[in-house]
Amino acid sequence: MPASTPRPFPADFLFGAATAAYQIEGAAHEDGRTDSIWDAFCRVPGAVVRADNGDVACDHYHRYRDDVALMASLGLQTYRFSTSWARVCPDGGAVNPAGLDFYSRLVDELLDQGIMPWLTLYHWDLPQALEEKGGWPNRDTAYRFLDYATAVHDALGDRVTSWTTLNEPWCSSFLSYIGGEHAPGRQEPAAGLAAAHHLLLGHGLVVRELRQRDPQLALGITLNLTVADPVDPTDAADRDAARRIDGQFNRFFLDPIFRGAYPVDVLEDVAGNGFEAVVEPGDLTIISSPIDLLGVNYYHGELVGARPPAGATMSTEAPSERPKRSPFPAAEGVYWHLRDLPLTAMNWEVQPEGLTRLLRRIHDEYTAPAGVELAVTENGAAYDDVVGADGVVHDAERTAFLESHLAAILDAIDDGVPVRGYFYWSLMDNFEWAWGYDKRFGIVRVDYDTLERTPKDSATAYARIIAGRAL
Ligand code: FCB
Repeated sequence: MPASTPRPFPADFLFGAATAAYQIEGAAHEDGRTDSIWDAFCRVPGAVVRADNGDVACDHYHRYRDDVALMASLGLQTYRFSTSWARVCPDGGAVNPAGLDFYSRLVDELLDQGIMPWLTLYHWDLPQALEEKGGWPNRDTAYRFLDYATAVHDALGDRVTSWTTLNEPWCSSFLSYIGGEHAPGRQEPAAGLAAAHHLLLGHGLVVRELRQRDPQLALGITLNLTVADPVDPTDAADRDAARRIDGQFNRFFLDPIFRGAYPVDVLEDVAGNGFEAVVEPGDLTIISSPIDLLGVNYYHGELVGARPPAGATMSTEAPSERPKRSPFPAAEGVYWHLRDLPLTAMNWEVQPEGLTRLLRRIHDEYTAPAGVELAVTENGAAYDDVVGADGVVHDAERTAFLESHLAAILDAIDDGVPVRGYFYWSLMDNFEWAWGYDKRFGIVRVDYDTLERTPKDSATAYARIIAGRAL
């Protein structure tokens, strides 16, 4: 197709941007909020680059009105945000009306500006008091999650129609309880596997309850899915490395949700960790409660093999000098290779075609048979932004990243995959977990000294695409 021919998006395609509570809100000790595991983790020396934390973050808690006005000025149709469990139910206990009220005001503001709220109940910030009772490896946490979710629904169910239970349970189980790179920083394979199951159980319990309360709601979950390519597709050991990565990132979560069973090969991979005893009769029926929408977070795929690369090993996720190592027990002996692709400031490959392949595969194997729609709920890039003499970040690389991934989505749509929307990560620079404030993903720059927001060139480009509804 000639470059000059505009490629339109479907009329009902939603353009949005995403954030998460701990990464932007700040006000960590206000109106009754207590510690989450991230507040506690940030106090552990060395856990977070440059000893940062989310105490102030982007101060969104106090500036939400201006932030919503900014979203409206960009033409965003929807905004994906998360609610903070420790704000709504301090210490994981009784409901805190002052905390809930913040989200009620935020939702009203969004609706006033014609922006659809896309609410995520859990973006990694477990109340620290619940971690002290065992955290996600403790089955009871799934039931406490249900209590919290129903409290949020009691308050917002009249105005919010799109509900996501969990964001990226791979991170809040394997990376957090096995890899130790995310809060609570534990390194216990059996606990990480139990955490994953209990997160999925919590998801299923909430879907079942909200569905019963209101059949009109759009209910879903967001997963960080990947495309694992073997270095040499003719080499059995490389193919097995790719199978194991696909197993832990994709199928370990997709199969129980869509098929009511954990993948047999992955169960064999993790044998010896007591996982069978964690899964109680009936759990998989709850976990596979029908959903309406699957959120896909995609940043890059992976090229993996059974032998180390000649050059550098790709180092993602690990902020320290540690080489990247998958936290999953069955990923021993898997090596990450780099292709001849540009890298972002996270050292993540820019691989838009992987998104097309991923969406097609998920549609064919999981969502189409279940009649479930897809949305890309996160996709974005960190770069070492430079503020120009005019005070604006001229981030041509980020704009190119955004455009190439939107084009990859259009390719999937052309192939018949129903993709309902796209959420750029992130609306604004924010607290990037173990990397602190060092990595900037925003289309809006945040000056952390003054907390001033300035749209980058990528924001202007995105606003133009949204206005024209075409690439
Ligand atoms: C995802 C997280 C999100 C953000 C991006 C860069 O894994 O869901 O909070 O940190 O990565």
